Amino acid sequence: MNVCRTTGLTVEQQERWPFLYSHLSSEIEIPSLNDMDEQFIIEMDKEISRILKHVGDGKAKSRESLTRHLKGLLQRRFQRNAKVEAFGSSVTGLSLGTGDLDLCLSFKKEQPKKVLRKVAGLLREEGMMDIQQIPRAKIPIVKFNDSRSGLDVDISIENRLAIHNSKMLKSYAQDKRVREFILMIKYWASRRGINTAYEGTLSSYAWTLMGIQHLQMTNPPVAPNRQSGNKPNLVEINGESYDISNDSSPFESENKQSLASLLITFFDRFATRWDWNEMVVSIRNGGPLNAEKKRWTHTGPLPLEVVTGQSKNRMEHVMPIEDPFDHEHDLSRIVKAEGAMTIQEEFMRALHLLSEGKSWKEICTPVMEIDEEPEDFFHDLRTQNIDLLRQGLEEMKTEVTQVEEHIQSLVTERQNSKELLDLLRGTLQETRNVKSNRQSILAELRPLSMKVQELRQTRDGINDRIAIPTKRIRQEMVRMFDSLTAEVDVFNTQNLGKEKGDFSYFFELQAMYKASIESNEAHQEFIRLRREQNKEYKALKKTNSKEEDVLNRLIEKNPELKGINLHPKTVKEFQQNANKLQKSINIQYSKKHELRREIGRIEAWIRIAASKGKQRPKRDSKPRTARRQAPAVNINEVRERASTGGSFSLNELDALLSKGGISGIESKEKASTSNQSDRRKAGRKKSTYRVDPRQGRKRGKKQSRK
Ligand code: CTP
Ligand code: MG
Repeated sequence: MNVCRTTGLTVEQQERWPFLYSHLSSEIEIPSLNDMDEQFIIEMDKEISRILKHVGDGKAKSRESLTRHLKGLLQRRFQRNAKVEAFGSSVTGLSLGTGDLDLCLSFKKEQPKKVLRKVAGLLREEGMMDIQQIPRAKIPIVKFNDSRSGLDVDISIENRLAIHNSKMLKSYAQDKRVREFILMIKYWASRRGINTAYEGTLSSYAWTLMGIQHLQMTNPPVAPNRQSGNKPNLVEINGESYDISNDSSPFESENKQSLASLLITFFDRFATRWDWNEMVVSIRNGGPLNAEKKRWTHTGPLPLEVVTGQSKNRMEHVMPIEDPFDHEHDLSRIVKAEGAMTIQEEFMRALHLLSEGKSWKEICTPVMEIDEEPEDFFHDLRTQNIDLLRQGLEEMKTEVTQVEEHIQSLVTERQNSKELLDLLRGTLQETRNVKSNRQSILAELRPLSMKVQELRQTRDGINDRIAIPTKRIRQEMVRMFDSLTAEVDVFNTQNLGKEKGDFSYFFELQAMYKASIESNEAHQEFIRLRREQNKEYKALKKTNSKEEDVLNRLIEKNPELKGINLHPKTVKEFQQNANKLQKSINIQYSKKHELRREIGRIEAWIRIAASKGKQRPKRDSKPRTARRQAPAVNINEVRERASTGGSFSLNELDALLSKGGISGIESKEKASTSNQSDRRKAGRKKSTYRVDPRQGRKRGKKQSRK
């Protein structure tokens, strides 16, 4: 592998971060932006004004109506306990129109359990797409896409600090120049693909704070410090106290710099003058904080060391940016080594292009080629026969009805399945007591049976050996004893052999007697334990019939339980079945939504085609003299409505078609978002960007780092 000896970067990495690489390997000087040509600044300002006319929240209406819809939905689901508030760019006035919709769901009383799952389920039923849950984050989030408006939405739970900081950003953005400056920073960051926190670059929010910091530091300041008042305004969130004071009064700046000039100094500041190792971006301070004092000095490896594989350790405070209210929150916490390299490459690139007199448009060139614009909203319908389209439309409508019926039957089936599941759970609960009683009987029965068996073996073992009953043995023993102890008749004495035989017979009888007694005792104990065992068996039988009674009673009440094996395993099977049904329902919902959208589009086209047909002058009709002027049409607004499924007049539709459908707006929006995602997907091989000035400029410092 071809690796640079100075930097350790591979050829691929050198191509990916060319400006940074040249800088790191000392091939090029850092350009100075001190003496920019005045004419260049004027031209750049004109360019920025043109761009500003096209950026802005073109989807504001869609955002509003989607917010209203989701509010209603969530409030119906969580009753009056739920509170839904928008935050982020849709309320700050800092939207480029390409950003997401940020909503905060909070609860007035107790937060429901498994709330994220419930929200996700609700959204699924609504036909939302790409639903993702991020439950373990500090602020849990559900992300999804509303395919009707195309909006990406983040619903975060109890993100109350964000509501407050959005209010403050709104105060900053009330000043036109501040707003437009931040919009241009966001525009650059978005088109250059460095505003994606989850991919390891900075969030739009962090870029906004950097923009404000720059405006606070110009001389004289363009933006004030809105947190410099003496009166704290404390709120408590999750047991922590935060000062959310925000002086929202208008601020008259004496600074007359133009947007272009402010942007140039922004790049100059953050690309070359800002020492990330010592300075923390802090808008609540109105200027940088000392990193050492804040204990936010960079620790861990440098981004370069990570990307060149010299270290795998975690980096801390790589580009420290303090949250204005949560002072412990460093917004660069999520920046990854590659992200940091890319950000610094972008700073270097902007610096170089500006110094070469390149246009703002070029500086903000999207990182990926913009896709070919789609022909128009109705491009595939134009060549089709209207009658066939009408026929297709009818078929689609029938299909929608079928899908709706299917959904209904699936919902009913799931409902039944859930009811049965609850019933099963209840039944198992009811029979649980009887079952535990049986368990304890069985626990006692087991050792009892073993003992009975043991006694039986002892008894039968003895009886096998000694067939004579105890009584007979005893009589025989007495007889022998008497005979052996009778007075000796000296005239009639036994011989010695016979006497020996009698004695051993007597001893045998004695041993037999002992064993026989043992057998009798074993038998008695056996009988006693058998009685006990029988009692337990009877109790066991009783529990069986008791369980049967409980079940019969339940089955009588709920005949659907009949034939079901009442076992925890069955409950699990029912649960799985209910989940499966829910999945099928979701699929059918998406299908229905898609069909509906397509029906709407075809119907609109049929209306347009029909009206065009009517408007065509008939050959024998007189030429029209005064044609009534159609009302002026705002094409962007119509495109927006068309793309979100809104209604519009035929005149508007006509205008839409003659201007190439909704493709204009859509493609612009998609271009910048898809650029980012495409670049992500396509891998970063082909991209040519990225940085960390600290690494280059301060490379000498590296040795002194600990
Ligand atoms: N936010 C926050 N902490 C973060 C990131 C975001 O508190 N680390 C909150 C801020 O209130 C911010 C909002 O989330 O205003 C939205 O963040 P983001 O989407 O990054 O900014 P937007 O201005 O909405 O940018 P875009 O238009 O690109 O969506
Ligand atoms: Mg946002």
